[in-house]
This record gives sequence, C-alpha cells and structure tokens, in this order.
Amino acid sequence: MNKNNINNIAPIGIFDSGLGGLSICQEIVTLLPNESMIYLADSANTPYGEKSQQEIVSLSIKNTELLIALGCKIIIVACNTATTNAISNLREHYDIPFIGIEPATKPAALKTQTGKIGVLATKGTLKSDLFITTSNQFRGHLEIFEAEGFNLVRLIEKGDLKATVPLLKEYLAPMIDAGVDNIVLGCTHYPFLIPLIKELVPNNVAIIDSGKAVAKQTLNILRSEGLLNSSVSAVTRFFYTNGKQELLEAFLKKIELPSNSVSFKYF
Ligand code: DGL
Repeated sequence: MNKNNINNIAPIGIFDSGLGGLSICQEIVTLLPNESMIYLADSANTPYGEKSQQEIVSLSIKNTELLIALGCKIIIVACNTATTNAISNLREHYDIPFIGIEPATKPAALKTQTGKIGVLATKGTLKSDLFITTSNQFRGHLEIFEAEGFNLVRLIEKGDLKATVPLLKEYLAPMIDAGVDNIVLGCTHYPFLIPLIKELVPNNVAIIDSGKAVAKQTLNILRSEGLLNSSVSAVTRFFYTNGKQELLEAFLKKIELPSNSVSFKYF
C-alpha cells in the first residue's frame, strides 16, 4: 500500500472473529474520541480459536483486505487468536501499521505477589508460538496456570452470557485452588464476562485484560506515523457484521458508544 494515499482523517480499521473486539472499540473511543472507525465482526466464522493456523491466517487476510479497501489508515487486530497466529504474516504482506493484542502475561507477572498467575484464552492462542515464547520468558520466575475457554466465545456470540457461568467455574477452579492472584483474560470476548468472573473469584484476585494497552499503543503509533486525526470533521463509526445485526447492536448498547455516530453494514 502506498502510504501517501493514507490521510489522517481516514478511519481506524478493527477486526475480530465476532463481537469480542468491541471491548477494544470501547477503549479506542475513550482514548481517541476524534477518530473514525470501521469495525468488522466476522461472526460467521467464529470461533477462530478452534481453527488451524492456516485458516486463521486466511481469515485475517480477508478481513485486512476489506479494511484496506475501505480506506483504513491502521488496522487493529482486536483478537488474541488472530494476533498470535497471523500478525507476523500480515505485517510481512501489507504496508499498513498493525496493532495486535496478546494476553497480558507480562503485566500480570510484574504484579503478582503469590508468583502464580492464570491465563484464560482460546486453544488457538495457547498453542501459538508467540504465546508460548512470551510465557516461557516468565516461567522460570513464576507459575502460569493456563485454561482453554472452550465454548465461551460461542455463548458470548449468542448473547447468552449467563450460560458461561458453569464453564467459567470449571475452567477457573484449578487456578484459583492453586492460589493465583492475577487472572489474564487472553481473549477480547472475555471482558464481557468480567462481572460474572468477579463473582467466582476471591476479592484479592485481579482480572487483567489488554484493552487499555492496545488503545495506548494505537495512539502512540498514530502519533509517530503522523496519522492522528487533527480535523474537526464529524466522526463516523461503521460496524460491519456477517452475523446477526441485533446482537451487534445489543453489545454496542452495553458498551455505550455514542449511538448517533454508529451505522451498520453487512459484509
Ligand atoms: N476475540 C477472539 C480472541 O481474542 C476470540 C477468538 C475466537 O473466535 O475463538 O481470541
């Protein structure tokens, strides 16, 4: 892509395997309220976490190409599974800045008092080379308890958050019993479960996600690339889905995005 064609009023492109990346949109709107955005919810292909790396790469390429065709100036891969499996491939092939999201193992490692942390993430993330390499850096100093959040994404995509409770109990019990004091939410869908998770874990256990760090990194990269929107023109926020628009709308209400700036499209 020719960077000369990108201007700073162009939107930020964001994609996820579905609705999870909306938790990132929320942080972006808070930190970068003047930026327009285009969000792709690839709900028809959810969950990515149970697909092969090759499938995750090709879905990530499809999403990237659509966001580039729509004129985005930067792409946020708002999915841990797509980041850990595909971002190096995307960076190799497209000349547009990418921001990824990975489980916040490092912040948890720095914060823990018990030397024990938990990571709840998809199978695709936990099995990825990127996650294994990063978490191995800390394993000498602390114990990391991993849990695969099998079926959590499917239930969240149906809007059935309450149905996740028995699964959360099952997945979190071993790490709680082991004495973790920090639990990393390594999937952008999981922040929607924070109120339910808080009911299940002791008060001293911190729940950590990477949303704020991603927004901060986006700000830094836009600034360093000279791509921050300095104009006062109207902000637009388009939400594309290939799943159910009603569910997307319900989640958008939950995160309280200014609704007058929101439009929907099917892709
Ligand atoms: N939001 C995606 C993530 O952060 C969910 C992956 C999936 O679809 O399984 O990993």
